[in-house]
Amino acid sequence: MTVNGERYELLVDSRQTLLDALREGLSLYGTKEGCGNGNCGSCTVLLDDKPVDSCLVFALEADGHKVTTVEGLAKDGRLHPVQQSFMEHGSLQCGFCTPGFLVSAKALLDRNPNPTEHEVRLAIAGNLCRCTGYDKIVRAVMDAAAQGRGQRTAG
Ligand code: FES
Ligand code: FES
Repeated sequence: MTVNGERYELLVDSRQTLLDALREGLSLYGTKEGCGNGNCGSCTVLLDDKPVDSCLVFALEADGHKVTTVEGLAKDGRLHPVQQSFMEHGSLQCGFCTPGFLVSAKALLDRNPNPTEHEVRLAIAGNLCRCTGYDKIVRAVMDAAAQGRGQRTAG
């Protein structure tokens, strides 16, 4: 499979999850395991540009596909706009859920650079955070979208 632009050949157990293959096989520890059963979104990665819970995907299902993890968001030493915006808006506390939010937000902005607040909330509906409340996260995503359009929101 191709992960963050690099091709990898991995020997996996037939029941190994994509989450475990990324963390244990490739040492990509940015993707977190929260619930392990599809409820929390901490393990969100992009599979062919679509967000999936990697704890619910077998590693074998990613064979021949493109995977993007949170480690693949920054480019050429520069944070992705949603990463920058999360920092500026104080949108993380423990940060455990943050990789999943960032990946879901990136997927949203790639397919819809001009989302409404409702669309942002829908896009991150599968991501749970126990610490921050969601307003700062939503504001960060809206601001990253505005920056992408060359605008900037207040706050
Ligand atoms: S660890 Fe995959 S959804 Fe919670
Ligand atoms: S910042 Fe801690 S769970 Fe979201």
